[in-house]
Amino acid sequence: MRKQIVAGNWKMNMTFPEGINLIQEIINNPSSLKGAQLIISPPYLLLNQAVKLTQGNNISVAAQNCSEHEKGAFTGEISASMLNSLQLEYVILGHSERRAYYGETDQLINQKIKQCLANNLKPIVCCGEILKERENNEHFNVVATQIKGMLEEITAKEFKSIIIAYEPVWAIGTGKTASPDQAQEMHHFIRETIRNSYGSEIADNLSILYGGSCKPSNAKELFSNSDVDGGLIGGASLNAEDFIAIANSF
Ligand code: 13P
Repeated sequence: MRKQIVAGNWKMNMTFPEGINLIQEIINNPSSLKGAQLIISPPYLLLNQAVKLTQGNNISVAAQNCSEHEKGAFTGEISASMLNSLQLEYVILGHSERRAYYGETDQLINQKIKQCLANNLKPIVCCGEILKERENNEHFNVVATQIKGMLEEITAKEFKSIIIAYEPVWAIGTGKTASPDQAQEMHHFIRETIRNSYGSEIADNLSILYGGSCKPSNAKELFSNSDVDGGLIGGASLNAEDFIAIANSF
């Protein structure tokens, strides 16, 4: 059985005290301890505290990015080995905001994935088309190309620690959610793409998360699809009650 996961991508939100407060609200909510596995992904400056505070709860911590380099003169960057030294488990990579605002390509994301895997971190790898690509019926091609590029030279053994998040860019922060059918169709396509490259055992065990305006009111319908194994939540993860309500939507 593959894992059901609800991950909260806080993006560039929350000061240090606000972030500590939100983590505490999530931990102290008794219903947060059951159901899907929770992952929280605060900004870098909160990661150390997040790992400490969530220890012993069923909550894991993800970074939102990492460097493609191992170490050295890269001012302002954070390496995979630094993240590993905090004992956190996951790193979100290839988010559409990183692609759009920081020029990240599939090849660069591939290097970051390799850094994470070399440092025992599990990548949450994002893919998804923009509106024009969906309107032109190119969305399957776009996602297949992203996956192929990002996963180049990743072995089956390494792939076992990867999670994929499908985030249609037109649904992120817009209030427009993919319909449950659109999500299921793409998640199924992603799973079959992985099956072709890595075989059935790996494809059937892969958790594929949906992201894009997922909230308590639509999570249940989205998660009821057989290939939707959870969500990568932006805005709604900044509110403990909403985040936990989403996690309890399975
Ligand atoms: P929203 O849930 O705010 O649409 O963001 C989704 C997202 O980008 C998660 O990574």
